[in-house]
Amino acid sequence: MSSLDVLTKAGSRVLVAPSILSADFARMGEECRAVLDAGADLLHLDVMDGHFVPNLTMGPALCASLRKAFSKVCLDVHLMVADPARFVQPFADAGATNFTFHVEVVAEPLELVDRIRAAGMTAGIAINPPTDVSMLLPVVREFDLILIMSVNPGFSGQTFIPEVLEKAKRIKPLLQPNQRLQIDGGVNVGTARRCIEAGCDVLVAASAIFGSRDYAQAIHGLRGEAAIIGKTGNH
Ligand code: DX5
Ligand code: ZN
Repeated sequence: MSSLDVLTKAGSRVLVAPSILSADFARMGEECRAVLDAGADLLHLDVMDGHFVPNLTMGPALCASLRKAFSKVCLDVHLMVADPARFVQPFADAGATNFTFHVEVVAEPLELVDRIRAAGMTAGIAINPPTDVSMLLPVVREFDLILIMSVNPGFSGQTFIPEVLEKAKRIKPLLQPNQRLQIDGGVNVGTARRCIEAGCDVLVAASAIFGSRDYAQAIHGLRGEAAIIGKTGNH
């Protein structure tokens, strides 16, 4: 199974994507290995530029190191930057699997989709909580992944905004089985069930996983399953 297949061939399975923003950066390799062994389906990389959001995080160099360390893992890159087009080729070269940009910053999203796919990645589009879903509806069919932000992006550990689930309910019926509906921000055991019920099938979580003592329990808890004892990863 290629790293692309994880997203496009998941069917109705709920995928859990730890956001490494809440990992211990001094032990990044170990942390990624630990969440993958604990049952994570992919790794979510939150890229912030200090302009679109008030924080600075990570870039292509970290992505390249993770690709070297984990050859088959789906590396899901979420660009919270003012000019995502600049970073398509650098992240493709760094081995990213999926490239998600925000609808708020791109005038011609379909042009960027073509560039992302031509560079060998799948394409995602993200929408912030205050942005009206009508901005996204005309283009949702053209993306591999739709990302509904359930906090205002910038930092981990914020409180889930339940009103965004209305967007999920609007978007889900428009999607094909090979398209994923991802939610990101404040996702924990308490909010995950409502996200799944609203149609979300990729749950991003930073603090709920890396802030827990038992990563397997946290990951299986997000899916609504009991934790399986022992290693489940295959990476
Ligand atoms: C929002 C980022 C998220 C964030 C999630 O700023 O896109 O991925 O790190 O953090 P939690 O799960 O702690 O809300
Ligand atoms: Zn994110």
